[in-house]
Amino acid sequence: MAMMPLLAPRPTSTAAPTDPVAADPVPAAAYDLARRGLLPRHLAVIMDGNGRWAQTRGLARNHGHRAGAEAVRRVTRMARKLGIEVLTLYAFSEQNWSRPASEVQGLLTLLVEFLRQELDELRTNDIRLVAVGNLARLPLPVRLTLQHAIDSTARGRSMTLALCLSYGGREDLVQAARTLASRVAAGELAASDITEGALGQALWTAQLPCAPDLVVRTSGEQRLSNFLLWESAYAELYFSPAAWPEFDEQQLTAALQAFSQRQRRFGGVAAP
Ligand code: FPP
Repeated sequence: MAMMPLLAPRPTSTAAPTDPVAADPVPAAAYDLARRGLLPRHLAVIMDGNGRWAQTRGLARNHGHRAGAEAVRRVTRMARKLGIEVLTLYAFSEQNWSRPASEVQGLLTLLVEFLRQELDELRTNDIRLVAVGNLARLPLPVRLTLQHAIDSTARGRSMTLALCLSYGGREDLVQAARTLASRVAAGELAASDITEGALGQALWTAQLPCAPDLVVRTSGEQRLSNFLLWESAYAELYFSPAAWPEFDEQQLTAALQAFSQRQRRFGGVAAP
């Protein structure tokens, strides 16, 4: 099912056909936070709980991932409407390759479907798609579809949607260290040139404009699971009990409200 353009007129078949505000699932409280400048610039999400959501309903795990793709649509639309600058989603980890072949295949098929179905909407809404991870591991047809979506949205300026695919935070740090080590070995760089900035620039995430301000994890688990380890050094963490397929506009608003009440000190002290 293709998403309709985020900013286009809404369909007239809803309960309140002539009232666009009533048709908008984004709570007013979320817009209020946006107006007050209290939203994260970069929201990152560990979309957990698809498998358990499906299993508790007697469904195959891939049904959970399919329902999870709907939550991806909801959250992407909402982030765009609120003016969040970067939305990063942990869609497939390096460790996920070890899942049964049918599940891996199901996830990759879902990704290709998503990219094909949502491309027009991403373009209409000025969203730039980027992919972060060990993309060379993806099968060629997946890589080609992904590259096409990346190329055709490259001019998007209103939001960056980053999909972490075949991604691991440790793996990224290792590849960055290797890149810098080769440059030192080649005489292009001195060891003393390896600064936080240089390392950050060698990471797959260098294509993102800023580090995450808020990391949300669904399904009640409270860990990072190899997600944005370097980049999340000062991110606020929020854990939602909802499984990812259940995560909706209300739950995202609750996460954003919690974020708006945090005091971020970045290792310093609160302003007097
Ligand atoms: C974790 O749930 C989720 C994943 C490994 C994949 C996330 C994928 C999607 C949300 C689907 C589509 C994404 C896109 C971008 C189209 P889990 O399977 O580990 O859940 P469990 O912990 O309950 O087993």
